[in-house]
Amino acid sequence: MKKQRLPFVIQGLGTALPHRVMTNADFEKFLDTSDEWIQTRTGIRERRICGEGENTLTLALTASKIALEKAKLTPADLDLIIVATSTPYTPIPATACFLQRELGCGHIPAFDLSAACSGFVYGYVCAVHLMASGQYRHVLVVGAEAMSTITDFQDRGICILLGDGAGAAVLGPADDDIGGVYDHLLGANGGGAELIWVPAGGSREPASARTVEQRLHYLKMQGREVYKFAVSKMQEVIQGAMTRVGLTADDLAMVIPHQSNARIIESAAHKLKIPIEKVALNIDRCGNTSAASIPLALEEVVNQGRARKGDWVILAGFGGGLTWASALLRL
Ligand code: UT7
Repeated sequence: MKKQRLPFVIQGLGTALPHRVMTNADFEKFLDTSDEWIQTRTGIRERRICGEGENTLTLALTASKIALEKAKLTPADLDLIIVATSTPYTPIPATACFLQRELGCGHIPAFDLSAACSGFVYGYVCAVHLMASGQYRHVLVVGAEAMSTITDFQDRGICILLGDGAGAAVLGPADDDIGGVYDHLLGANGGGAELIWVPAGGSREPASARTVEQRLHYLKMQGREVYKFAVSKMQEVIQGAMTRVGLTADDLAMVIPHQSNARIIESAAHKLKIPIEKVALNIDRCGNTSAASIPLALEEVVNQGRARKGDWVILAGFGGGLTWASALLRL
């Protein structure tokens, strides 16, 4: 093994999805699109959309409570909360502070992290390094999004992709000699900042009647450009991690990619010669839930027994920023 491990592992995972299901057929009712187009181009059949009383905080709270229960810990055991989100409960304060209050934790540090679809992995990497400092024993890392609140349902090039949800992980010290993070990589290229962005509502252009009228408070994406970036970056980060640690595709139990588009994932897996059975895919049911997508997909494969204690698993995120992030774990 060429790399040193950071000996911190996932002790509990939890997820939450809104109750309301929106199918491709629902889009056909008001948009020039079809179930056939959406399934062929993206692999998505349906996604969950927040309804009355559901939002980033409620989803994060439900997921976090389950993760704590699975970890057999209480909110009082947590030392730090990181929430990765692009759709916070409020612009100020951080969703993590509301979450701390709702969970009933002590006055532990809590902050939000903005790295779009790479946010959960960015948060995970920050968490393990803060834990390595010796100051934090148990950290709650959450990816939570209500993407529907920034979705332009008149823009067929993006609205069919997005969904809402949350995934939470309680991280703590490994109880064996192998569990932990063996490699990680964080990256960003601000040169592509406008390829996925919300032009207004920030200090660049504060919300006004005009920005709302011009729909500038919604997420915009240049799909084709992002597609090319995503395929090559996903391949690059996974190959890079395996090379640095000295593993091959055969060693990996599961790859947990950001759920952006089934074609992106399948194409990268094919180029890496990773059988598709070893790739977590829930995009057919969840769509692209940005920072929530990796913990949602991870929890599913862990529950299915496709990734177990001691297994090699790689998390690979990419998205707005442009950002990318990977973490090679032994569960
Ligand atoms: O989470 C962050 C990372 N995000 C991503 O990785 C997303 C990356 N991009 C994509 O997944 C794909 O680019 C899309 C799914 C968004 C679009 O698929 P595409 O194969 O790249 O289509 P396109 O944008 O090149 O458009 C092809 C055609 C166009 O029509 P014309 O100009 O050829 O007549 C579009 O207007 O498909 C049309 N189109 C649609 N047709 C029916 C675009 N969206 C739709 C739609 N229904 N929803």
